[in-house]
Amino acid sequence: MLNQRRGDGSLRHLITLEGLPRAELDALLDHAQRYVCALGARPPMNRALAGVTLGNLFTEPSTRTRVSFELAARRLGAEVINLEVQLSSRAKGETMLDTIHTLESLHFDGFVIRDSEPGVVAHVAAHVAPHVSVFSAGEAHLSHPTQGLLDALTVRQHKGVRFDSLSIAIVGDIKHSRVARSAYDVFTGLGVGELRLIAPPALMPANGEFPDGRRFTTPEQGLRGADVVMMLRIQKERMAQAEIPDGEQYFARYGLTAPRLRLAKPDAIVMHPQPMNRGIEIDSEVADGPQSVIRDQVRNGVAVRMAVLESVLRPRPVRA
Ligand code: CP
Repeated sequence: MLNQRRGDGSLRHLITLEGLPRAELDALLDHAQRYVCALGARPPMNRALAGVTLGNLFTEPSTRTRVSFELAARRLGAEVINLEVQLSSRAKGETMLDTIHTLESLHFDGFVIRDSEPGVVAHVAAHVAPHVSVFSAGEAHLSHPTQGLLDALTVRQHKGVRFDSLSIAIVGDIKHSRVARSAYDVFTGLGVGELRLIAPPALMPANGEFPDGRRFTTPEQGLRGADVVMMLRIQKERMAQAEIPDGEQYFARYGLTAPRLRLAKPDAIVMHPQPMNRGIEIDSEVADGPQSVIRDQVRNGVAVRMAVLESVLRPRPVRA
């Protein structure tokens, strides 16, 4: 695994949350909380990253992650370039590393990368110049670290900082989900009391993955008494056609409906990373209902990405 730290121990890249100590996770969440702002209020801005240039390189679609990384960087005074990969020389066959090295020559200081291939983000991080940082914006089915942090921040805002008393249920296509893997890393890192994995057998991750998760194959078994219900999208883009479950049948067995949600604690919160398939993994009545914190998750995305960018990029000298 790539070492994502500098020699002095500070984070140089953010590729994964795996192994981040609790104190560091708490510090990032505290930092992010300072950037959270009510809707309608003027968002906090500063010049902490003035002079820094960041590139957004997304080879998979994104709305929330891409826009919030860009907003986060701009609100810290950085310059941001969104590279349209299909319009770049990558489309003519240029390798990812040649593209990256070209952008380094143009004084880029960091790259935010989403890629469907496992290992690409770490490969880039291993080959960039020493002053350059790489941020994962979602890597294949493996990790989505800033999503994990924004999910943890959302739980903290609604349930408090003590994760050891919480029972968190992750429901749906866990096997193909980078969101679930980063959620596992951050929730276990923060000392969650109980983490439940609820999925049909075909969408349950392999034995050996998620070692601290309790596995359930029905929501009726797994949702009882949960404090947090995190629904996942079926990741059709990572499945062969024959593997894709029928939407109607899936909703009947696993969709989060109001009656199913009543199995959880009365004050349980409902999360979903989005994009949502309404009527497949979640009913609109629940997604838009009083227990839903899905919009808070989106709002927290900017604050978390500001904290991550600032923590990783700030400790660098201004170049002459
Ligand atoms: N949650 C999330 O990663 O959303 P996007 O795919 O829109 O970035």
